[in-house]
Amino acid sequence: MRQTLVAGNWKMNGSREENRHLLDGIKAGLSEGVGAEVVVCPPAIYIPQVARRLNGSGITWGGQDLSLHESGAYTGEISAAMLWDYQCRYVIIGHSERRSLHGETDAQVAEKFLVAQKVGLTPILCIGELLEEREAGETEAVVARQLDAVIDASGIQAIAGSVIAYEPVWAIGTGKTASPQQAQDVHAFIRQRVATQNTDVAEKVQILYGGSVKPDNAAELFAMADIDGGLIGGASLDAEGFLAICRAV
Ligand code: PGA
Repeated sequence: MRQTLVAGNWKMNGSREENRHLLDGIKAGLSEGVGAEVVVCPPAIYIPQVARRLNGSGITWGGQDLSLHESGAYTGEISAAMLWDYQCRYVIIGHSERRSLHGETDAQVAEKFLVAQKVGLTPILCIGELLEEREAGETEAVVARQLDAVIDASGIQAIAGSVIAYEPVWAIGTGKTASPQQAQDVHAFIRQRVATQNTDVAEKVQILYGGSVKPDNAAELFAMADIDGGLIGGASLDAEGFLAICRAV
């Protein structure tokens, strides 16, 4: 039985004041626990604040990205060890906004995955197709290519120590969610692809869905056999909405 995971990706949002309210709201709402592991991924500058406020709460936190270098002359970058230093347990890798706005390639994403695991962080590996790729019938080919880049670089066992997030790019921040069946079909494909190399790893790996998950669609998505939780953008910025999604598990 896979543990369900709900991760909030705050992206470039928040302030110290807003974060305080959001974190206190989430903590209060989760004080009696939910059936999911709950993670928040704030902008890097707020990780120390989040670490202080969530310490001992049972809620974990992570980074939104990391450098593929360990240390050195890389102005503006944040290393895996720095995230680890602030007790991050997770790090989002290969988010479509990093791929499209910062030109991250499959090879760089695969390298970041390795760098994260090397210090003990659990990568949340984002994969997903663009609208034109879906319309051209290329969804499976795209997610297979993105996944294979990581498996080829890290080996299939490394997948067991990671979380995969299927995020169709056309559903991110657009209010257009994949239907539960559309999402389930791709999740099953991803699990099957892992299973061709190792059935135990396939059975174990958590596959999250991301892309306009909201309180009113979370339950039906999470009910699908191969959907093990969600990566939540916009709806993770509001405590009540985020809590409702966590409770939809
Ligand atoms: P969204 O973002 O929930 O705002 O669509 C999801 C994501 O980018 O991870």
